[in-house]
Amino acid sequence: MTDDLQPRGPFRYGDRVQLTGPKGRMHTITLREGGELHTHHGVLRHEVLVGQPDGSVATNSGGHEYLALRPLLRDFVMSMPRGAAIVYPKDAAQILAAADIFPGATVVEAGVGSGALSLWLLRAIGDQGRLVSFERRGEFAEVAEANVATFTGGTPANWSIVVGDLVESLPGAVEPGTVDRVVLDMLAPWECIDVVADALAPGGVVLCYVATATQLSRVAEYLRGTGLFTDPDASETMIRGWHVEGLAVRPDHRMVAHTGFLITARRLAPGAIPPDVRKRALKKPSYDDADVEIWTPGAVGDREITDKNLRKRVREAQRAARSSVSTSDGHDGDSA
Ligand SMILES: C[S@@+](CC[C@H](N)C(=O)[O-])C[C@H]1O[C@@H](n2cnc3c(N)ncnc32)[C@H](O)[C@@H]1O
Repeated sequence: MTDDLQPRGPFRYGDRVQLTGPKGRMHTITLREGGELHTHHGVLRHEVLVGQPDGSVATNSGGHEYLALRPLLRDFVMSMPRGAAIVYPKDAAQILAAADIFPGATVVEAGVGSGALSLWLLRAIGDQGRLVSFERRGEFAEVAEANVATFTGGTPANWSIVVGDLVESLPGAVEPGTVDRVVLDMLAPWECIDVVADALAPGGVVLCYVATATQLSRVAEYLRGTGLFTDPDASETMIRGWHVEGLAVRPDHRMVAHTGFLITARRLAPGAIPPDVRKRALKKPSYDDADVEIWTPGAVGDREITDKNLRKRVREAQRAARSSVSTSDGHDGDSA
């Protein structure tokens, strides 16, 4: 894989290119020698794009024009094959800021799901950082690996995926007190807080991304109850697009109203007990295990993917990765 997570300069074989054609119809192709995009509007040969700058317009055999752009990471994650629900770009951007992901950081992430957040994290930590991602379902890990390979052209040397439950696998995978940042995107992050507290360096940040207010409450109280973290901060992010054309300047009629909540806290130094934490730890939480039982994926609105559909997503993701990796090695990929 290249050190550069995003290729630059004129188009070359192996690049992924997003084409916008007649009536705004979009196609994503991987440029390969002899490759062609066939539509009912005609044939666009890949070679006409090679050597052209990003943002060029190419014409197909039917005289139709296509705007060609390398997909941005946000375009890629929204269209890549999914095993599990992904972190949307609006939340990924906030996660990078709220968890303070920095170049060179050692970051732990769980679960990997489809690998969308892994891509944002890899980009933010850079070559000097290290990302260790945990996923308990092997097929999801395969989808994520293939998606990362498709976008980056290989497997980043500073990224490893551990297939297993974070609670069991984290202690054996990292030295205690060495991890700078932990990002949890899963149904029951509170189950992982004890191992996360051991793994984090003093001052390190844990961030949980949860879909429902009940999960938010449960994880906040768990963090408080340990007495090992600062008081958590919670937020949600709403982005309202605007239509800006001439004098018609107004908010879009539709928006994504809800995806999830972010909650962050910082690991205290061993033995440090700030006065407010000491007071809080004495309070009893007002929920019990029965409350957690109802937070199954179905109950909180997550649609479970069927095994058949998941196998299909794995095949799709691996096909895209093979095409992307082999063409960047100078071999043939599949036709677009
Ligand atoms: C919503 S998905 C993560 C999506 C991912 N962040 C992305 O952007 O593509 C949640 C994932 O967490 C995994 N998971 C849940 N609990 C886990 C645990 N304790 N350890 C490891 N993985 C876990 C699930 O199998 C699932 O794939």
